Amino acid sequence: MKILIDRQAQQPIYLQIRDRIHHLIHNGHLSADAQLPSIRSLAQTVKVNKLTVIEAYSVLEADGLVRAKPGAGYFVNSFINSSGQLSVVGETQTTDAEKASSHSHFNPAQEVMMPSQGKHSFPAVYYATLASRGHPDVVDLSRGEPHPFGEDDLRRIARRAMKSSDLFFRQAHPKGDVFLRSQISQILLQQGLDLSPDNLTVTSGSMQALSLLSEHFIAPGDWVIVEAPTYHGFLSVLQQRGAQIIGIPMTPQGMNLDLLEQYLESHRPKLIYTISTLHNPTGITTSLEHRQKLLALAESFDCLVIEDNAYDPLSFGPTPPPIKALDTSDRVIYVGTFSKTLMLGLRVGYMAITGKHNNPLTERKLLHDFHISNASQAIVKEYLASGHYRRRLKHIRT
Ligand SMILES: Cc1ncc(COP(=O)(O)O)c(C=O)c1O
Repeated sequence: MKILIDRQAQQPIYLQIRDRIHHLIHNGHLSADAQLPSIRSLAQTVKVNKLTVIEAYSVLEADGLVRAKPGAGYFVNSFINSSGQLSVVGETQTTDAEKASSHSHFNPAQEVMMPSQGKHSFPAVYYATLASRGHPDVVDLSRGEPHPFGEDDLRRIARRAMKSSDLFFRQAHPKGDVFLRSQISQILLQQGLDLSPDNLTVTSGSMQALSLLSEHFIAPGDWVIVEAPTYHGFLSVLQQRGAQIIGIPMTPQGMNLDLLEQYLESHRPKLIYTISTLHNPTGITTSLEHRQKLLALAESFDCLVIEDNAYDPLSFGPTPPPIKALDTSDRVIYVGTFSKTLMLGLRVGYMAITGKHNNPLTERKLLHDFHISNASQAIVKEYLASGHYRRRLKHIRT
């Protein structure tokens, strides 16, 4: 196997190896069940340390692309088929209906809702969460938050990141650190979303992205469509903005698309908010077909889409490409975060915007807080560069 390494590049070598093998699998040059070169032989051919190859193979394994057979080596596990979906070897293709009936008895009433604030507002729930911290009898189900682990690694990495502290005296670009943005674009590429770092803005958690987007796109009185139920934090953001909210019920396959079409027609909303993968709170991941139909509807009614993909990295199996990857008219804004996988308190999230709204949204971000803390960005950057992130995801999924 030929792998050209650029030793001057900023990208670590193990990631260059990972990308090359990913590319070979993606293009069918390495087919399902093909054996990867042994660690020793690849290390010799590429002239790198064996540990570097192990790191690259571990990342591919954590991505679900290869599997390790004890004593035999690494084998290609999956391929990306012509419709862009990742299929796992040996996995029979089931229809959405089959998947739903075998895994779930979820069958909510298909009633459209217009949620109101009520007494359990998001800020009230948030304060209750803070008050219950550390209380042995309380299990907090109000938010998705990783159980703290690997703290020694985190501390070591944070200390290393602090060594570049000269950067803390300087102002930075409102979009965020360019190297961090290119690391994020690499992660998104593995999800099937090909974006330049210039299309990314690092935000203070995805919550800031959601607030900025609603401020930017929604005027008081505008109609907005959400899934019912949905992430209560965004409902509060919309309510504070004075939006009128339509909650389209979930089915086991995702938002009810027939009702979505009816309400797009009758209310002409500005925006659809969807959590396409591991939806909060139902856990539903929509199929490629559902994503295509939702986007086609948004297109025909000239409606924007916010795709909140906070939980994608936690998916047990391969997921279809995000709706943003199917978007050719710059109407989908993608939002992601490290809060669910790394450290909630760092407050590092991001939004991906293409087209004419990109620069105005960067300016809006600048006017909010210039940019997010350089310290938080440095820690995430260091963590991603260390190669620990993939292993961490695997650990969390397990
Ligand atoms: C779907 C969804 N989006 C966004 C957020 C906000 O996350 P953060 O601001 O910590 O990135 C949450 C938090 O629970 C969530 O569940």
